[in-house]
Amino acid sequence: MTAIPIRFFVCAAALSLAATPAAGQATAAHKIIFDTDFVIPPQDDSFALMLALKSPELQILGITTVAGNDSMERATADVLRVLEIAKRTDIPVYRGANMPLLHEKSDFAASVHGRWWSDDPPPAPPGGFAEKPAERESAMDFIIRTVNANPGEVTIVAIGPLTNVAMALRQEPGLAKRIKRLVVMGGAFASLPDGAGNVTPNAEFNIWVDPEAARIALRAGIPSQLTPLNVTRKTRFSKEWYDKIVAAKTPLTELVRERMAARFEKDPNAGGQMYDQLAVATLIDPTLVTSADLFVDVDANRGPSYGTTVGGRKPWGGGEGAQQMSVQHDVDFPRFINMFVERVTRK
Ligand code: RIB
Ligand code: CA
Repeated sequence: MTAIPIRFFVCAAALSLAATPAAGQATAAHKIIFDTDFVIPPQDDSFALMLALKSPELQILGITTVAGNDSMERATADVLRVLEIAKRTDIPVYRGANMPLLHEKSDFAASVHGRWWSDDPPPAPPGGFAEKPAERESAMDFIIRTVNANPGEVTIVAIGPLTNVAMALRQEPGLAKRIKRLVVMGGAFASLPDGAGNVTPNAEFNIWVDPEAARIALRAGIPSQLTPLNVTRKTRFSKEWYDKIVAAKTPLTELVRERMAARFEKDPNAGGQMYDQLAVATLIDPTLVTSADLFVDVDANRGPSYGTTVGGRKPWGGGEGAQQMSVQHDVDFPRFINMFVERVTRK
């Protein structure tokens, strides 16, 4: 299987069409833990963080890193550097799991997208490693401590494999009941349109990297919303939006230019889906998407369906562990891209 297309972000339309205020914007900001398999732009996680940093509806309590797109150590080094560039070193970063719970590297894993299996030292991010290191506390202990200190108030935004979330749930009795919401970029639903996988015929990357963790997290009974491939396939970041972003000339957009100019000079038609950006955007403004309430479970059995998500409008025989959650399947892309560009270009 060939490499999965670059997972980047989006950006949108005419700035004059800036997104209307999100429903509930006047209310208190969502307290979030941002759990990510981060890599510097053009990776989608970095654009998702830029969106979160520029959105007053979100209060980022901390960032937890996990192996996925690359190793956990790379995720940590890259996110620390982006926070330094953004002058947001007030946000603490916690190192999480460097490997999935059970899933091991295979020839197949090494040949498709992602270096979650790698133990290589992280490369220096642009401009070098950040001065501020990660916190000494682990990602899992931070999640547990923060949720326990703010019962019913913390939303976990998980845009990588769910390893950290599952480990925290396994470690702390009753934790699931104290988490306000779980926002997940992940999955692909054959029962809805556009439901093919992107790493195996039916599995999406984040779920496939750690199917056992995804099953634990999605079965935990936490109120959850999923941004699966069904809906991200209806997004596309292209040169039109790149040009609007880099025109802003902020430290973050200059990083985007540095990392993406060559790509668009070589191929002005380059582009890609906006995975993690959409998950974050829909926490800010849920009206951007149309969703279905499905009973969802994860196939963690080794075999051709390893790592697939299964969703049904009703429970089914064999799917007794499935929990009902909100699964996005359509998006108002013009409104989303406008919102994204308007926010990422904020000074
Ligand atoms: O399948 C898309 C997801 O896999 C995104 O979260 C991307 O960052 C990778 O983790
Ligand atoms: Ca990701």
